[in-house]
Amino acid sequence: MLVLIKLMLFWQAHVNLAGGTDKEAAKLALEYVSRIEQNPCSGGTEETLDLNVNHTEWETYIQPAILTANFITSVILENNGSLDYFTDAMFFSLVRNIVNSHATLFGACIAIEPEIYSKYSLFAPYAYRKNGILFAHDISLSYTYQDNKTVWYFDLKNRVWENATRTVSKTKYRSGNTSLPGKEMVFLSAKLEDGHWTKPYFDCGGGNIWMVTYASPIFSLDLTGRPKFQGKASVDIELTNIDINQCDIDTRHSYSDFDVFRGTHRCPSTTEVI
Ligand SMILES: *[C@@H]1O[C@H](CO)[C@@H](O)[C@H](O)[C@H]1NC(C)=O
Ligand SMILES: *[C@@H]1O[C@H](CO)[C@@H](O)[C@H](O)[C@H]1NC(C)=O
Ligand SMILES: *[C@@H]1O[C@H](CO)[C@@H](O)[C@H](O)[C@H]1NC(C)=O
Ligand SMILES: *[C@@H]1O[C@H](CO)[C@@H](O)[C@H](O)[C@H]1NC(C)=O
Ligand SMILES: *[C@@H]1O[C@H](CO)[C@@H](O)[C@H](O)[C@H]1NC(C)=O
Repeated sequence: MLVLIKLMLFWQAHVNLAGGTDKEAAKLALEYVSRIEQNPCSGGTEETLDLNVNHTEWETYIQPAILTANFITSVILENNGSLDYFTDAMFFSLVRNIVNSHATLFGACIAIEPEIYSKYSLFAPYAYRKNGILFAHDISLSYTYQDNKTVWYFDLKNRVWENATRTVSKTKYRSGNTSLPGKEMVFLSAKLEDGHWTKPYFDCGGGNIWMVTYASPIFSLDLTGRPKFQGKASVDIELTNIDINQCDIDTRHSYSDFDVFRGTHRCPSTTEVI
């Protein structure tokens, strides 16, 4: 009940401050937050919050996803379109490293197209942080990411990538104690704007936290030299700790759609000021 009262008070505060704009979004958000609060959730991530979000503040956290996607792309391009050079342990190491790169990151995932790692038809190593431990497993064993309901995969897979950024490189490999002549290669790389942001969602039954996922595409080149989608590397950013400050209504910062979360749940009782 207290939560609900706080929600109502906050909603009014937000609407006043926002001058009546975003009223529908705020209402939707509050209904959603209160539904999650009142009903112990039963698992899944299908419910999302349909708000317009400015991602700028999170851009530093997603760099490891872009770097990892581009690293995997370069391995594919140097190995004749295959990831068979990798081992399971290397994939798990990559996703653990992403999560370890910043405390704000909750999880990281690599998911690939069926033919690229011939060992498995589906493979999606995932790592996440819980109680200070990095857990990792293959989520494709219980979750079909190739399904067109999986927006973070389907959206990237169905885009036309003919204009993916190409970079010419010249690398002098080494043989014994000799430096070989420079080998020219064209690499493909995903940029920040090539990635897919999900809407904020409550990871029900998983982390039980608010998060947003950013996914960066992995490429190969097809026989005609065109970029071909081969998977993605993604990060799950935990919103609870950074943008959704649910414990105080802080008027020092400018208000955005995200501020609808302020003054809602998850506050130690000592900080309840309303
Ligand atoms: C998004 O936020 C950044 C700073 O956090 C700001 O510079 C930028 O103008 C904002 N973009 C939009 C479209 O509001
Ligand atoms: C690269 O792959 C193609 C088709 O998959 C194959 O025909 C070719 O022999 C391979 N080249 C090398 C160097 O392995
Ligand atoms: C998703 O896949 C199902 C079954 O393959 C198909 O019936 C449906 O039209 C697809 N939806 C979209 C949006 O492509
Ligand atoms: C790729 O670039 C060409 C030339 O600028 C343009 O005509 C084409 O529409 C672009 N394709 C996509 C998918 O953006
Ligand atoms: C390479 O150089 C090292 C150090 O000078 C030498 O010990 C080694 O025998 C060399 N290897 C070859 C294959 O020439």
